[in-house]
Amino acid sequence: MSLFSWLQTQLSLLLLAVLAAGPVPRHVAFEMDGNRRYARKSGKRVEEGHTAGFYALRRVLEICMRLKVGCVTVYAFSIENFNRSPAEVDALMKLAEEKLREISRHGALLDKYGVRLNVLGNKSLLPPAVQAAVEEAEGLTRHNNKAVLNLCMPYTSRHEITTAVESVVRHGLFSDGANVSKINEQTIDDHLMTSLVGTPPLDIFIRTSGVKRLSGFMQWQCCEHTQIQMIDTYWPDFGLSDLVPILLDYQRKVWTMGRTSAKAS
Ligand SMILES: *[C@@H]1O[C@H](CO)[C@@H](O)[C@H](O)[C@H]1NC(C)=O
Ligand SMILES: *[C@@H]1O[C@H](CO)[C@@H](O)[C@H](O)[C@H]1NC(C)=O
Repeated sequence: MSLFSWLQTQLSLLLLAVLAAGPVPRHVAFEMDGNRRYARKSGKRVEEGHTAGFYALRRVLEICMRLKVGCVTVYAFSIENFNRSPAEVDALMKLAEEKLREISRHGALLDKYGVRLNVLGNKSLLPPAVQAAVEEAEGLTRHNNKAVLNLCMPYTSRHEITTAVESVVRHGLFSDGANVSKINEQTIDDHLMTSLVGTPPLDIFIRTSGVKRLSGFMQWQCCEHTQIQMIDTYWPDFGLSDLVPILLDYQRKVWTMGRTSAKAS
């Protein structure tokens, strides 16, 4: 390692330690957009763009773990993504299987930081080999309790909300007589896939690559208190320099709120 890159690493670690001393978000969600445009821009194949996207995920996850963010949720594959070309879907599924097997291995990233992996979505739509890799990865990390990674795949918010309402009706309404008052914001919230795995409220939502829509991700979870950031960087290029201003914004907001509520009381 050159002196310059050594210094750069030391400075990054120092910066992360300083940031981690301030208020840290409990839950950050990433809509990892722009792999395909990144590939086009750099003259690579689409599959290489997705692979670069996976390395970005590892990098960002490591940063979040050093910051002691308790929960990270990422949008890996939407139910609509099955409409892409069979070759691309196939490549994405192979990548998912390979990386799931790699990511939870002993000594690898999730193990190192004590991260429990949850895969959220309609898993029955995944090919059997991927389902098996999901089960293995979830099983291997089941007892990790320092942080949580929710990998949404294949997921859409509409499906998540519909499933939640369905299970409120199934478990609530008919078990003790038909009582429509059981269907309320709290019971639906309690039955969301994220809630069922104990995810804290969403503090920051980040979408990369300049698209300014939620596109079926965390539509229920994005509330009044969620800081929503749409940034231009393509996901494979996303890193510390993108995350730091977002975190500083968050810390400023928390400190301002603290002062306001202190004055009010
Ligand atoms: C999940 O996908 C399967 C297979 O397409 C489908 O039969 C099922 O209805 C879906 N589940 C939900 C809860 O939508
Ligand atoms: C339904 O639940 C509400 C609140 O728990 C209660 O006040 C009401 O009497 C219940 N109605 C029926 C028909 O059980």
